[in-house]
Amino acid sequence: MSDLPNPLRHGLRIGRTPEPCTVVIFGASGDLTSRKLVPALYNLAHERRLPGGFSVVGFARRPWDDAQFRQVLLDGVNANSRSGAVEAELWASFAEGIHYQPGNFDDPSAYARLVERLAELDLRRGTGGNRVFYLATPPEAYPDIIRQLGAHGLHQSPHGGWTRIIIEKPFGRDLASAQALNQQVLAVFAEPQVYRIDHYLGKETVQNIMVFRFANGIFEPLWDRRSVDHVQITVAENLGVEDRGGYYDHSGALRDMIQNHLMQLLALVAMEPPVSYDADAVRDEKVKVLRAVRRIRPEEVATYTVRGQYDAGSLSGRPLAGYRDERGVDPASQTETYVGLKLFVENWRWAGVPFYLRSGKALPRRVSEIAIQFKTVPTMLFAETPMHDIEPNVLAIKLQPDEGITLKFGSKVPGQPQIRPVTMDFRYGTSFGVASPEAYERLLLDCMLGDSTLFTRRDEVEASWSLITPIHQGWLASPAQSFPNYEAGSWGPNSADEFMARDGRTWRRL
Ligand code: BG6
Repeated sequence: MSDLPNPLRHGLRIGRTPEPCTVVIFGASGDLTSRKLVPALYNLAHERRLPGGFSVVGFARRPWDDAQFRQVLLDGVNANSRSGAVEAELWASFAEGIHYQPGNFDDPSAYARLVERLAELDLRRGTGGNRVFYLATPPEAYPDIIRQLGAHGLHQSPHGGWTRIIIEKPFGRDLASAQALNQQVLAVFAEPQVYRIDHYLGKETVQNIMVFRFANGIFEPLWDRRSVDHVQITVAENLGVEDRGGYYDHSGALRDMIQNHLMQLLALVAMEPPVSYDADAVRDEKVKVLRAVRRIRPEEVATYTVRGQYDAGSLSGRPLAGYRDERGVDPASQTETYVGLKLFVENWRWAGVPFYLRSGKALPRRVSEIAIQFKTVPTMLFAETPMHDIEPNVLAIKLQPDEGITLKFGSKVPGQPQIRPVTMDFRYGTSFGVASPEAYERLLLDCMLGDSTLFTRRDEVEASWSLITPIHQGWLASPAQSFPNYEAGSWGPNSADEFMARDGRTWRRL
């Protein structure tokens, strides 16, 4: 792609700009803030999508001052921003609005100081009482923060402004804890103020699933059990748990990836067309899908699920330690780093069509894809010729990397009595020639604009947990004897292939 600015986009403001506001980030000294949140905000400033007076208050335990905080963020933006090295002038004006407030999450006096700080920013920067509170702390701190915000009246804005709260994942560890967290949040905030984040929904390619399905006439008539044989959703990562072993060992692939990201992808692929692009209309349809998924009972996990844990191996030519040897991980850990599931959406559109989901760490490639495999055609017509070996059509939505959509179909080889699969390809890079915004850019902007379409609603989170929790219970009741059971750098355990072979199918080679 050329480095020259695209003249058609330069300086253009597309879409609405939010009202002036302050984003308060709890846990602001952590990784997420400098790696994702502030680079996303800086890029929004770069694209001229932020309002004048936009301000940030970082709230965390470390005893930093504004200058130290700004320096950490500047380093973070330089290292992580998609728009390249920071532009000094832009940074200078952006950084003027950045402040830091040290404090413990359960200390009332810190919130009293926050109230004063926000009032002062309203006056000085014209933020009009508009606030976003962003919970980027470990989840254990959520209840304290929510309670303190309520106790200090921060759940409502002065001067007729608005207040919203963004809650990072994980939203609960099981159905009961997700329900409890919902109760805690909703005792202080009203549901329309609550933005539960799933960063997959902010990815351009994920947003495009609905556009692809509902803005085109030719696919929807084929999008059901009459034409579709099965669906495969893969989110593969070519990294181990890195420095997150302590967190991950209490989570695992089922709760870290499937409960949120992959279930959201499933809902978007399987949902009925919503009546409008309104937040509740879209989320109503997603919830219906999640409720229509047949629940796997704990005693059924051997039939419908497969799990794995990586052993030592190599990734991209570099050795990787086994999961149990990673820092923060129990040497006898039973935590899964790979999951395969077979789910059925028991409604009129999808009954009988398996949805295979898989996600794992330490796999050979980073690749996320949704593949719709259509039914095979009757081959009688070609039975007497060498052309009987016809592969089914596959529509592959490539979420990352190499974002695009590919349709595979059979074609006659010129001059030969043979059929060979060929593809029609769409690539975002070639078709649009611009880099996609990061998921957090879109999500932060939407929250400031008051659009919760790409955030998960209370009932959606609970519907997803009610599917995931019995699987986890089933696994707890029957520990995996074979862990570790796949080599880092391989495509998961052999049992994952056997799982598909039982249905006469194979995982896609990606
Ligand atoms: C996070 C998980 O939600 O998603 C991580 O906690 C995972 O374990 C990450 O690596 C993957 O996100 P992405 O955007 O890189 O696919």
